[in-house]
Amino acid sequence: MSRFANQRKSKIFSASLLYGLALATILATPVFAAAAPSAPSGADTGSDTSAGASTSTNAQDLITKGRYIAAAADCAACHTVPGSASFAGGYAFQLPIGTLYSSNITPDKTNGIGNWTEAQFVRAIREGVRPDGAALYPAMPFPSYARMTDEDLHALYAYFMHGVQPVAQAVRPNGIPWPLSMRFPLTVWRWVFAPSPDAARQSTERSFPTPELARGAYLVEGPGHCGACHTKRGLAMQETALTAQDGPQYLAGGAAVDGWTPPSLRGDPRTGLGAWSVADLTAFLRTGRNMRGSAFGNMDTAVHHGTQYLTDDDLTAMARYLKALPAANGAEQSWQTDPAATRALRTGGKLTKGQRLYLDNCAACHRSTGAGYAPAFPPLAGNPVVMNAAPDSLIHIVLTGATLHGTQAAPSAFTMPDFGKRLSDAQVAAVVTFIRHAWGNDASAVSDVDVAHLRKRLTPSTMQSAPPTPIDPAPAQPGSAPRAPEQDVSQDTSKPATGPVPTGHLPPEDALHSAPQPAMKAN
Ligand code: HEC
Ligand code: HEC
Ligand code: HEC
Repeated sequence: MSRFANQRKSKIFSASLLYGLALATILATPVFAAAAPSAPSGADTGSDTSAGASTSTNAQDLITKGRYIAAAADCAACHTVPGSASFAGGYAFQLPIGTLYSSNITPDKTNGIGNWTEAQFVRAIREGVRPDGAALYPAMPFPSYARMTDEDLHALYAYFMHGVQPVAQAVRPNGIPWPLSMRFPLTVWRWVFAPSPDAARQSTERSFPTPELARGAYLVEGPGHCGACHTKRGLAMQETALTAQDGPQYLAGGAAVDGWTPPSLRGDPRTGLGAWSVADLTAFLRTGRNMRGSAFGNMDTAVHHGTQYLTDDDLTAMARYLKALPAANGAEQSWQTDPAATRALRTGGKLTKGQRLYLDNCAACHRSTGAGYAPAFPPLAGNPVVMNAAPDSLIHIVLTGATLHGTQAAPSAFTMPDFGKRLSDAQVAAVVTFIRHAWGNDASAVSDVDVAHLRKRLTPSTMQSAPPTPIDPAPAQPGSAPRAPEQDVSQDTSKPATGPVPTGHLPPEDALHSAPQPAMKAN
């Protein structure tokens, strides 16, 4: 009997282990949303009433507003496959347990959400629950969307029902085998980690020094779901903080997603946004580039589908909110330029392997000063992403290259070439180690083992950032051609050692748009 009991126990144990494992692996996934304490639902469906109460907006205005909210919430980043119909889903998420595809969220009645009521829609967005009661994978960032207002969701629903073309394209069945495909562990996860709409609303309505900061907090913590990438996750892959109130880990930098590491958005002077001004931030979110760095990997996607469409007022509110987040690491020293590396590269004496590789492969665009030709070719000197504790993004971009997409306000695209075929693991390690130590940068060295490891993890979907989609406002434009290293050197000598390297003194934002890029005022 005890034997039987033991067997049973061990069966139960292995079953729960399996589901525990399933849960952990399900959640151990890119781009994921996550968490905070939960409570029951139910009070979240008052959107119809708020619609009645809300002003005299006519149907078209409502749709236009919904479209704007869809951009602020970046729905297209996950629900539109580059090059195919908007919101028809099918974007693949590689989970350790199999492949999850995003849903068709067009108003098609068979394949999409055309039959959903507003209450059902709102519940899916805020709570991650489908009309049939099944839980959604937190790849859908509902723990952040829980904060979205009734008014915004009402407009968003109007947009998806009346402003989006229905697409009769079946959702691909998920490639997740049974029993891992069972959704009940997700329900448990949701109970434990996702905020209830009530709790989220209370947090959203907390007091702020100014209405602008309140707006910025709403956009960043809510629809923008910036924390889904930029905040560290706990053991069950829940975000360890969902708002600025939850502590200094909020937006203090997340783990690599698809091999791209989201850096800290807090006030840390070297590895965060401490040195960036509000104008730097708005330029970055509007155009994907500024004098200090450029958006690449999945941040390029976030700008491409999302932030570029936001108004100046909203971008400024987000920037001010981010600038109000104190540094997570109070001890960090601010970045100071150090001309030693530039001097070594220019004199061309006895160069280290990393210096040599940099001169041969990188200096044409990023220059011997590391200042680049910002905002077209980003600086590497003083660039927070280059000093990130985790070097994944840097190894990744050197291996695969990346394209900075054109945006409405800066239509030129610029491409960083891929060096994966040309450089060995040891060479990539040497050049990345060099840029992490040169010009006053200071971050850990990278080994060939790190490079080999990342190289193995690259899949076709992570090989490049999203190619231009139909909503891309302009095709790629030829940028200012990279200059030869010799020219770079002679150019640089005419300038003080610091050159245009980030110094805290920046040209006004307009300078970004009038920078010497041929297509800057196109469109
Ligand atoms: C970070 C990626 C991501 C973002 C951003 C995102 N979604 Fe999703 N969404 C998903 C994934 C993945 C699924 C499928 C989850 C599953 O099958 O459990 C999904 C599922 C859904 C569903 C359920 C559809 C169904 O038939 O079950 C709806 C509705 C939805 N999303 C709407 C939206 C809207 C509206 C937005 C913007 C406000 C949005 N999503 C933003 C990834 C995302
Ligand atoms: C899908 C994941 C993802 C989401 C969502 C996301 N980011 Fe990022 N972000 C990244 C990655 C990866 C980087 C590093 C690459 C780069 O610098 O572009 C980054 C970089 C940045 C940078 C540049 C920081 C630096 O030091 O150079 C800023 C600013 C930024 N993100 C702001 C935001 C804001 C604001 C939001 C929400 C509206 C957001 N991000 C949402 C992944 C993401
Ligand atoms: C032809 C010009 C060109 C060359 C050569 C080049 N890069 Fe780049 N690099 C770029 C462009 C353009 C970007 C911006 C890509 C984006 O934002 O998607 C970039 C981005 C980067 C970034 C990310 C910084 C940021 O803020 O966007 C790093 C790191 C980097 N390059 C390192 C290197 C290294 C190391 C080499 C040599 C092995 C190299 N690059 C060679 C053009 C170049």
